[in-house]
Amino acid sequence: MRNICVVGTGYVGLVTGACFADLGNRVTCLDINQEKIDRLNQGIMPIYEPGLEELVERNVKAGRLVFTTEHAVALEDAAFVFICVGTPSGVDGEADLRYVREVAESIADIVNHPIVIINKSTVPVGTGDWVADVIRKRRGDNDLQFWVVSNPEFLREGAAISDFMSPDRVVLGSLDQEAANKVAQLYLSLRCPIVVTDLRTAEMIKYASNAFLATRISFINEIANICEELGADVREVATGMGYDKRIGRAFLDAGLGWGGSCFPKDVKALAHMAVLHGTHPQLLQAVMDINRNQRRRVVMKLRRALDTLDDKVIGILGLSFKPNTDDIREAPALEIIHLLQNEGAAVRAYDPAAMEVASAELRNVTLCEDPYQVAEGADALLLATEWNEFKHLDFERIHQVMRRPIIMDGRNLWNREWLTFLGFTYFGVGQGIYVNE
Ligand SMILES: NC(=O)c1ccc[n+]([C@@H]2O[C@H](COP(=O)([O-])OP(=O)(O)OC[C@H]3O[C@@H](n4cnc5c(N)ncnc54)[C@H](O)[C@@H]3O)[C@@H](O)[C@H]2O)c1
Repeated sequence: MRNICVVGTGYVGLVTGACFADLGNRVTCLDINQEKIDRLNQGIMPIYEPGLEELVERNVKAGRLVFTTEHAVALEDAAFVFICVGTPSGVDGEADLRYVREVAESIADIVNHPIVIINKSTVPVGTGDWVADVIRKRRGDNDLQFWVVSNPEFLREGAAISDFMSPDRVVLGSLDQEAANKVAQLYLSLRCPIVVTDLRTAEMIKYASNAFLATRISFINEIANICEELGADVREVATGMGYDKRIGRAFLDAGLGWGGSCFPKDVKALAHMAVLHGTHPQLLQAVMDINRNQRRRVVMKLRRALDTLDDKVIGILGLSFKPNTDDIREAPALEIIHLLQNEGAAVRAYDPAAMEVASAELRNVTLCEDPYQVAEGADALLLATEWNEFKHLDFERIHQVMRRPIIMDGRNLWNREWLTFLGFTYFGVGQGIYVNE
């Protein structure tokens, strides 16, 4: 049984800690947020993630998983420490490394035994070397034996546990082959490809992967906008493209653009790194511009459909940045609500999981109990997040309660023929405009 300390008990840290415990390791999860740790110790999850509560409960019961705010307790006999703290955007789009620095300093202050430090947070290229420098400088001696390994995380919120347990690959970067091998041992039972490389390359693999996925989404959104002008259907374009093995179908769904805690800050941070080092990241800039415009475009479509947004009531279905999570960071719905309110619209909204977190962020939004309440008196209904529970709504009932039967399907989830048959005016993304005559 290996002793693992996971620092930062957010989406990545909590999933990592619970999964490593489930693989038979002794894991201590450390966080500076006392309330979060107190709640975890009562079995209350800080995030909505399918399967997480059961996983945590099972491993806490088995004595393999504990939660603490005490650095000394968590680091005492850890052979491995995983850094999973946040790396938010700084003022110029750079990754803010203040939390990573705090963890490195705590390790320098507390640890007196050989330790492998594994960085799971998404950090700029060169951060592994920087962490080693911070520790060396802080201690002022050379008597701590430590190795830094980069192990970027690729899990998706909403599918985090299965992504951790069945990853497409594990990436490990280190200047020390032996340290990388030790970390590889932790993942061996997952039987997945393990890419071992140097520190900087591993750090870059994470940024390049996220930037590429964001690029695919922005690409198909640009194609969708062209389809709308030319009368083609982007859904079938994506299907036709996706059968090509060189292209594939994933991440080719046109919609309201990408959001969440990773893509926006990671694309920005990569562009910032590029500029800082004298290159001109024109593709990354375009990818971000297209994404920004996609949110404005849906507001423009609503304005056109209603002549003006002033005094109009807009119902929003879905607040989280994607289904199966309550994460609303950089969620398209939130920015769209803000834009609608700026133009004088009143907003009603519902989300299956993100109502509590969203209520702290949103001002003057009527939060409803279900989609039907959202539709009551609405001049238009916008689907912002494609939750399963929105797939098969009773649209006859919705038609009866709306003031005007206008549907803005921001995720191309619904059947336009059925909705136009029922008398709705339907707008999808990249499908042209279908008006019931
Ligand atoms: N969320 C994702 O889907 C995802 C996926 C892949 C990679 N990542 C990356 O992983 C990192 C963590 O992301 P997250 O979404 O889990 O963040 P998060 O904000 O959900 O959690 C971070 C946690 O770290 C804690 N923390 C901050 N400083 C600390 C310290 N000094 N000691 C102990 N705990 C501390 C915070 O209290 C918080 O609970 C980021 O770099 C992110 O880019 C996230």
